[in-house]
Amino acid sequence: MQLRTRLSHPATCHPDVAGVLVSERALARRVRELGAEISRDYAGREILLVGVLRAGLVFLADLARAISVPVRVDCLAAASYGAGTSSSGAVRITRDLDESLAGRHVLVVDTVLDTGLTLRALDAALRARGPASVRYCVLLQKDRGGPPPFRADYVGFTIPDRFVVGYGLDYAQRFRNLPYVGVLRRPVYEGTS
Ligand code: IMP
Ligand code: MG
Repeated sequence: MQLRTRLSHPATCHPDVAGVLVSERALARRVRELGAEISRDYAGREILLVGVLRAGLVFLADLARAISVPVRVDCLAAASYGAGTSSSGAVRITRDLDESLAGRHVLVVDTVLDTGLTLRALDAALRARGPASVRYCVLLQKDRGGPPPFRADYVGFTIPDRFVVGYGLDYAQRFRNLPYVGVLRRPVYEGTS
């Protein structure tokens, strides 16, 4: 199941944020649902959760605690964006896993699926390491019109094709600590604020 989102404008959000796309409460509820669904699907198995740094960190921490089957946790870092708001097209693995994937049920956890370039590049690299299975859980999938560029197995919310921040997502390394997912005011990323 995927939920659609609408922008709201609470009086108390960050001054650089134009609106809240997914509230803290909606995030918490959806993460609990995803955790329950994943726990049912993996009943009797151990999952190796692979967080994609840095954006996946906050979601990984919350999702791990919503899963009731045994988990191991590891992280890798992949970079496809510079400081801007559009994809450079190039994906680099900048920090690799410590755990072996051989025979493991791997669940990759990331916060946003945009062009799909990051996860597509990771998928090939991870499958080459002999895991028992590889699945993908993303909190947000951008609706870019047309078929999704990469099929994630678990999707929290489908969102409009806007640049979003918060809940782990940054703009030039800022805003990761916002407890909600929001849209920036245009002057912030056009450098005129
Ligand atoms: P993709 O490779 O285009 O799917 O992009 C995935 C990565 O780009 C994410 O893991 C984020 O780090 C970054 N990204 C994509 N869209 C956004 C956004 O709206 N805000 C912040 N980061 C984003
Ligand atoms: Mg980023």
